[in-house]
Amino acid sequence: MKGIVLAGGLGTRLLPLTKVTNKHLLPIYNQPMVYYPIQTLAAAGIKSVMVVTGGNNADDFKKLLGNGEDFGLEEISYAYQTGEGGIAAALSLAKDFVGSDKVVIILGDNLIEKDIKKFVRSFETQPKGAKIILKEVPDPERFGVPEIKDGKIVNIEEKPKKPKSNYAVTGIYMYDHHVFDIIKTLKPSGRGELEITDVNNAYLKEKTLTHETMEGWWTDAGTSFEALFRASKLIAEKNKRK
Ligand code: DAU
Repeated sequence: MKGIVLAGGLGTRLLPLTKVTNKHLLPIYNQPMVYYPIQTLAAAGIKSVMVVTGGNNADDFKKLLGNGEDFGLEEISYAYQTGEGGIAAALSLAKDFVGSDKVVIILGDNLIEKDIKKFVRSFETQPKGAKIILKEVPDPERFGVPEIKDGKIVNIEEKPKKPKSNYAVTGIYMYDHHVFDIIKTLKPSGRGELEITDVNNAYLKEKTLTHETMEGWWTDAGTSFEALFRASKLIAEKNKRK
């Protein structure tokens, strides 16, 4: 199983903090933001990781993460996304890296309290398809939101005005290598991006999308100043409990 951290995009919602640096290099309490998703992958036993960067200061990721040994990785590689074509567009850059393996993807601004080991183990035994992780949230309209009937997801909507459940699709996705064929078929959304929600809906159509629910907190740190601040507080509390 390979791992990917998507740390592209221009981080415009955090200007001026992101005027001269990349959003994923900003501090979350005592570590740069990008450390957390890498640590989540490493803790799940993933040894080979690609970081897709973009925007400002791409070289700083190499300076910061080096060859990955500080995180217990055997290999780390880097790709660069020009512009902000969407999460699925960033993922498409990792096609050769993934090869015929399966892959776990984490958005570079997604932080969690616990770990994803058991989800990764269960995806390892899933013959094909995809797995997504859901989390109940008070503000689902900010996220990809599943419509659930009889415990099954029947559709996923990206940032719906009227959410059909109280769940967010977190930015942790597991795919087989068929994902790259799916991405080739996508058309840009209203916001001009190749949407990861469209990828998940394609797997849903093929009836190979499974899901699980996250325990402990989950947060996306990069969407607003409030989210950035909240993430630092959550990490500080987590560290204190340790
Ligand atoms: O955090 C979970 C949510 O992430 C999901 O519930 C949504 O379905 C999904 O679309 C996404 O929503 P956001 O609009 O919040 O994504 P955002 O544009 O903030 O991008 C999240 C991360 O993805 C960002 O930290 C870096 C990476 N990214 C994003 C874009 C647009 C890239 O690497 N390249 C990109 O072009």
